[in-house]
Amino acid sequence: MPLDPERLPRHIAVIMDGNGRWARARGLPRAAGHKAGVDAVRRVVRAASELGLGALTLYAFSTENWGRPSAEVGALMRLLSWALGREALELERNNVRLGAIGRLSDLPAAARKDLAAAVERLGKNTGLRLTLALNYGARQEIVDAVNAGLADGVRRFDEQSLAQRLYTADLPELDLVVRTSGEMRLSNFLLWQAAYAEFVATPVLWPDFDREHLIAAIREFQKRDRRFGGLSTKA
Ligand code: IPE
Ligand code: IPE
Ligand code: MG
Repeated sequence: MPLDPERLPRHIAVIMDGNGRWARARGLPRAAGHKAGVDAVRRVVRAASELGLGALTLYAFSTENWGRPSAEVGALMRLLSWALGREALELERNNVRLGAIGRLSDLPAAARKDLAAAVERLGKNTGLRLTLALNYGARQEIVDAVNAGLADGVRRFDEQSLAQRLYTADLPELDLVVRTSGEMRLSNFLLWQAAYAEFVATPVLWPDFDREHLIAAIREFQKRDRRFGGLSTKA
């Protein structure tokens, strides 16, 4: 069944999980799994652009991932710089608008600098909004939003005044969260935004995820009956 182009998710977020298990299954170091994960990012971004999706947010590094061995953290940060360099031209050609969310100021200096340069270069494009979640944690995001509001003199929050201070304030409504590697949790990702998003989990490990898996997830989304607490609009 082809996708219904009228009912594409406005915003898909992906928890890219399973790099370590992918590497382990091949007797490779975990870093090799992360490197293969970059190729999956490239395929999925390209597919998302071609499908005409509006926004894609990728969970690349959580605030809890600092708890991993420092060699792995270092490898991930170097991989980020390397991948931004390698992919910039193709992202530019595809008119991808790059952004990043998370406590970016706590990233290592080199990663921060390379990320800022890429966002500067690609941030004004008008195509797919690709957002990398880096040193991202949803609880921290909510705390940061509250503190930003207090600094602005807000004394009492409502949903709007809080949502407009989240890192995602100018992104479209989150419609679909995809998680690879078979895990069934959000791991501190977009807790506020996911309130009524559909969740699709696939056993596929992130480095194996490709265009067809993305299409399958969207197809699954299009089959869902989103009731938002009301009654079905279907007969
Ligand atoms: C996801 O893969 C990448 C990051 C969290 C940075 P993992 O590294 O979590 O892979 P598994 O879950 O150990 O297989
Ligand atoms: C979530 O994966 C974070 C990213 C994909 C960046 P984790 O592998 O860190 O999550 P847990 O530990 O399985 O919950
Ligand atoms: Mg994992």
